[in-house]
Amino acid sequence: MPVPGPGYSITVRVEAPPSASAAGDLAAAVGRAGGVITAFDVVESHTDRIVVDLTANTYSDAHARDITTALEELPGVVVRKVSDRTFLIHLGGKIEVSPKVALRNRDDLSRAYTPGVARICQAIAENPYDARRLTIKRNTVAVVTDGSAVLGLGNIGPAAALPVMEGKAALFKKFAGVDAWPVCLDTQDTEEIIRTVKLIAPVYGGINLEDIAAPRCFEIEARLREALDIPVFHDDQHGTAIVVVAALRNALRVVGKQLSDCKVVVCGAGAAGSAIIRLLLQKKPADVLAVDVHGIVHPGRDGMDPNLAWVAANTNNEGLTGRLTDALVGADVFIGVSAPNLFGADAVATMAPDPVVFALANPDPEIDPLEAQRHAAVVATGRSDYPNQINNVLAFPGVFRGLLDAQARGITDEMLLAAADAIADVVDGDRVNASFIVPSVFDSAVAPAVAEAVSRAAAPVGARPA
Ligand SMILES: NC(=O)c1ccc[n+]([C@@H]2O[C@H](COP(=O)([O-])OP(=O)(O)OC[C@H]3O[C@@H](n4cnc5c(N)ncnc54)[C@H](O)[C@@H]3O)[C@@H](O)[C@H]2O)c1
Repeated sequence: MPVPGPGYSITVRVEAPPSASAAGDLAAAVGRAGGVITAFDVVESHTDRIVVDLTANTYSDAHARDITTALEELPGVVVRKVSDRTFLIHLGGKIEVSPKVALRNRDDLSRAYTPGVARICQAIAENPYDARRLTIKRNTVAVVTDGSAVLGLGNIGPAAALPVMEGKAALFKKFAGVDAWPVCLDTQDTEEIIRTVKLIAPVYGGINLEDIAAPRCFEIEARLREALDIPVFHDDQHGTAIVVVAALRNALRVVGKQLSDCKVVVCGAGAAGSAIIRLLLQKKPADVLAVDVHGIVHPGRDGMDPNLAWVAANTNNEGLTGRLTDALVGADVFIGVSAPNLFGADAVATMAPDPVVFALANPDPEIDPLEAQRHAAVVATGRSDYPNQINNVLAFPGVFRGLLDAQARGITDEMLLAAADAIADVVDGDRVNASFIVPSVFDSAVAPAVAEAVSRAAAPVGARPA
């Protein structure tokens, strides 16, 4: 059952009679139609009418129209205008560039621009590494997408992906002071993407790949890591893996199990699933079973791409075959990054005692969390309306803050694991429980803790001498 939320918030400007009951009638009409009023502002008042801005949360475009109709049907009420508040905050985009230096007079200009800037250019030409000290490269990340796997919307192209990339850039700034800029490429050709990112790399201290479809994303990341002297991080893979590993560490504390004794089922072996498996294997679980749309991944399967072949070779100790429900029997942990509504409470009942269920498919999880709770000891989802939200925002701002601070040239699994431990540690021993295995995305302790951990882990491979 969908719940009204701020993602579908509308403001309706209505004219109504100035009667004592007008406010109550308007509010009751919205309530009967299932909306949740969050603000009621009288913007004009006359002897014969009032004009009111009614703001309400709805759960879909169609629901917003139902609410508007309910208001229009009230006697004497005229709907003047309906504004979608989500569209309103996107007008003109969500980020901007602003200068860090004063440009008040000729003196300022001569230093920030010509002729003074020429000496800075010469210094960098003589010592290219000075770009990290004397330019925006020190604090700037490119958020690169080809628009091929955007949210749950699929291949919607680079222009339609831009609002997501702007949002990401805004989060980078808000949570970690990182200047990130969207780079939405009008190509989905692997070679063109790699070449373009290489060509723009001089400006940036790091590359955040975003919403690029699997399996292309694996090759693009691997080859860019090889070619560039700045960190390249595909957030859909590694951001997710970091937060999942952090959450799992605390979930296992709740149920009193060691990962080394646990059989873990990872459903989904695409961008998120394979990165989770790769990071999790570093922590040496008893076994991992990967499951995708064709069932349990095993070495005998035909037609696997190199990524899936690696997964098959490194998981499934006993060479099991079968479906998701076969994999779940006796499993201690389920991690889903696949598709909605794949199983019910009866399958959770077949898992080991006190199972942990992370159902992260967005927007609808692999299992309804309320169903999962019937047998699971800890449940997490990707959703903000349930406890234990697995959200990459916990990882990527701090990860890049740490990488930029360390002037890192690359990124390693040790850094990813350090980030995971830092996130898990924010929820200290006294606070961890079945409903609180990861900190809130608004916990201001998270990004600095992650940055510090990543920066420390980056030191051995990080900064070049100035
Ligand atoms: N923080 C989070 O909560 C978070 C982070 C990343 C991804 N996700 C979600 O995880 C899902 C997958 O994301 P991705 O980027 O890895 O996608 P992807 O397309 O790269 O991979 C999807 C995987 O799911 C498998 N799959 C599809 N249908 C299946 C089915 N019926 N049964 C079993 N497996 C099935 C596919 O075979 C593939 O291996 C999406 O819903 C995404 O929103 C959530």
